[in-house]
Amino acid sequence: MTTTSGLAIVTGASSGIGAALAQKLAARGQPVLAIGRRAHRLEELSARARAAGHASIHPFELDVTAEGAAERVRDRARELGGASWLVNNAGATRIGPFLEGDPAAHAMLVRLNCETVVALCAAIVPDLVARGGGRVLNVASLAAFQPTPGQSVYGATKAFVLSFSESLAVELDGTGVTVTALCPGPVTTEIFDVGAPGVPRKKLPLELSAEGCAAYGIAAAERGDVVAIPTALSKATAQLSRVLPRAAIRRLSARVGLPLLGYGAPRRGVRD
Ligand SMILES: NC(=O)c1ccc[n+]([C@@H]2O[C@H](COP(=O)([O-])OP(=O)(O)OC[C@H]3O[C@@H](n4cnc5c(N)ncnc54)[C@H](OP(=O)(O)O)[C@@H]3O)[C@@H](O)[C@H]2O)c1
Repeated sequence: MTTTSGLAIVTGASSGIGAALAQKLAARGQPVLAIGRRAHRLEELSARARAAGHASIHPFELDVTAEGAAERVRDRARELGGASWLVNNAGATRIGPFLEGDPAAHAMLVRLNCETVVALCAAIVPDLVARGGGRVLNVASLAAFQPTPGQSVYGATKAFVLSFSESLAVELDGTGVTVTALCPGPVTTEIFDVGAPGVPRKKLPLELSAEGCAAYGIAAAERGDVVAIPTALSKATAQLSRVLPRAAIRRLSARVGLPLLGYGAPRRGVRD
């Protein structure tokens, strides 16, 4: 079934991977419901699609963590003719020791990265099934495959997204609706500026562009891949987590993860 017909819902479309996903979906002829809190960014994205002669990008200013947000997205998608794609991309991280973080910010990260993904799937997937097919693309992370000291809540939320997506993919088998967990390593976006304000980070030589990541994700979702890991290096990293003992993975993640990106290693010792 071709999936360029029907609306693509994209959360977190105001920057980074989400903006690139929205732009690429519109460029191939698919109307997009572009969701985020920064309305001006969504308007700019929409204007660029119009100028390029792409399918419409409909801006929708919305905090996806707000009460009733998923139902508002479902209603707006129905007004626009119904969705055939749901892209759960909105997400954030917080970099720093867990105990130095604001408890409310930790809880909000879980709400944004996990609860909204569940709520949007619950609200939208029944419409995709009723339509006879569709694509769900949940943006997880390479961080889903191992604990991530220094951004402990982030890694845990992405492990949740990966597990949830895999289970949902199995449950939806035979409905025509596929679920893909996109698990990129570092991508050049604003996420680290938001997650560690005022702290400059090191850009890696092999870092993915938001555009490259988006193109990979769309192709993987079209194929119906359940787990999609862009780049050979990221695939190898995910594989390491499967073969090495957990204790070794914890140590490696603490010593290599954040320091590679230019942040200090988690201050406390890592115990076996
Ligand atoms: N960059 C990486 O290295 C990397 C690697 C693996 C996975 N990822 C994942 O990729 C996804 C996109 O992140 P990104 O790297 O592209 O970061 P980004 O540039 O910071 O984009 C995050 C997007 O999420 C939106 N968002 C945040 N809170 C929101 C809320 N409460 N309601 C609605 N929208 C909200 C932001 O829009 P507003 O601020 O306008 O609301 C923004 O559009 C995330 O799930 C992230 O975990 C990123």
